[in-house]
Amino acid sequence: MKNIFTNNNIPESYKIKKPYNQDTFLVNGELREWKRNTSNVFSPIYTENSEGKLAPTFLGNIPDLGETEALEALDSAVNAYDKGRGEWATLKIEERIACVSNFSKMMLETRDEVVKLLMWEIGKPYAESCNEFDRTIEYIDDTILALKAMDLKASEVKEHSGILAQVRRAPLGVVLCLSPYNYPLNETFCLLIPALIMGNTTIFKPAKHGILLLSPLLKAFQKCFPKGVVNIIYGSGRTLATPILKSGKVDVLALIGNSKSANILQEYHPKKNRLRLVLGLEAKNSGIILPDCDLDLAVKECVLGSLAFNGQRCTALKILFVHEDIVEEFNKKFVAEVEKLNCGLPWDENVNITPLPEPNKPNYIQELIVDAQAKGATVINPSGNYFEKSFASPTILYPVNNSMKVYHEEQFGPVVPILSFKEITEPLEYVSESNYGQQVSLFSKNSDSLAPLIDSLVNQVCRVNINTKCQRGPDVLPFVGRKDSAVSTLSVHDALRTFSIRTMVAFRSTDVNTQILDDLLKSEKSNFINR
Ligand code: G3H
Repeated sequence: MKNIFTNNNIPESYKIKKPYNQDTFLVNGELREWKRNTSNVFSPIYTENSEGKLAPTFLGNIPDLGETEALEALDSAVNAYDKGRGEWATLKIEERIACVSNFSKMMLETRDEVVKLLMWEIGKPYAESCNEFDRTIEYIDDTILALKAMDLKASEVKEHSGILAQVRRAPLGVVLCLSPYNYPLNETFCLLIPALIMGNTTIFKPAKHGILLLSPLLKAFQKCFPKGVVNIIYGSGRTLATPILKSGKVDVLALIGNSKSANILQEYHPKKNRLRLVLGLEAKNSGIILPDCDLDLAVKECVLGSLAFNGQRCTALKILFVHEDIVEEFNKKFVAEVEKLNCGLPWDENVNITPLPEPNKPNYIQELIVDAQAKGATVINPSGNYFEKSFASPTILYPVNNSMKVYHEEQFGPVVPILSFKEITEPLEYVSESNYGQQVSLFSKNSDSLAPLIDSLVNQVCRVNINTKCQRGPDVLPFVGRKDSAVSTLSVHDALRTFSIRTMVAFRSTDVNTQILDDLLKSEKSNFINR
């Protein structure tokens, strides 16, 4: 496992031949040139530099925009929405669908480059990078189908108590999208695409890592959407998002990230009831392993659940409670499986554990381990607690207790805390006391053991997984959380609702009104009232 970075045989097709100089940003339909201050983008993958020393690979640079450019992007989105009179907001649904479908086609052409950049920028293994891209295309296609079905249902005119009405979903206005580094493509598009297709205009600022992978898509955004509908800006979140929110002109804050940033940002908005929140935040999902489980299956799901993409998933299993009767055997098998994981670089065959994109993450993981060891936990896997530059090996800590940081904090990295429990009330209390409420995984073969737990846990989290790791997918299922884990629901179908509001046209059922309604329905006069 040692020397993660020295035998790096980079396949020819994945080499970065020339650094990316991202010197434009998208505002008002123009790719505006930026010749002022920029930020360098480095990979978490160390390669030999010109002096023969191992250093983070330089990938390119991006604009470091300021308040002026942030407000230009805001104006562009506000003008494009034009108080609901803008071209995009009033376009027929099938025309918006055509734009999104064109975009998806153009996006497909960028697959190889985007996958390559996912590997370099965030260290995501090749197979998972391909999966992120393909899952995103599928999400777009499914969104189109879901909107068609939703629209077909809404075309019906209903009559109640002498009132005729056509109820449809309308856009909310201007959406500010801030996305996370762990799924910089997929989670961005899970916000942007439903927001756009419902007729909103958007300002999007990428995460701290996983930025250059958007460069191959800028032209497609520019080409497929009317001017001002998609605005893409680069720079510090604080610098750019603060003035945009303070303006009071944003209708939706769509953020996948951290609850502290979400709290700070929403506070800036002067008109609280205008701002709709779409937030996907942290979690500390528990795995609860009961004595009557299928141990091999539980181990397999817990390894995947806690360590896929180095544990950098909001849905990861971040703490494991194992019944005291089986903890010894569970730990033995768990350690054996974790030791089989392949550590290396994203393009290495069958790699599982790769370098971490956040420069401070290895130090933080080390701090958690040192703190836990000082308070009585042991690293129980032989290859645990190994650090090399941006790489941290998977580390299993046992026995963990509530005095340790790793018991409370979302580690978002390759460290797995394990506790044993005697009474089921112990993990149940943990879940209900937690500030987070996303998901939980229960492992048992016995429905008698599971039923009471299911009935109480569904009231504490939003997904109880049985003999299955925690996860967001399949994307047709609602993705939601309680407490500090989420606000609003995302899924192919739910996101269309989240980024829109029901609005209607109603008529008292008189002869004149019925005539007007008939005429509107038959003609192409209105884009809202039609069949
Ligand atoms: O980081 C949070 C992601 O939404 C998790 O998605 O469960 O599909 O890996 P996933």
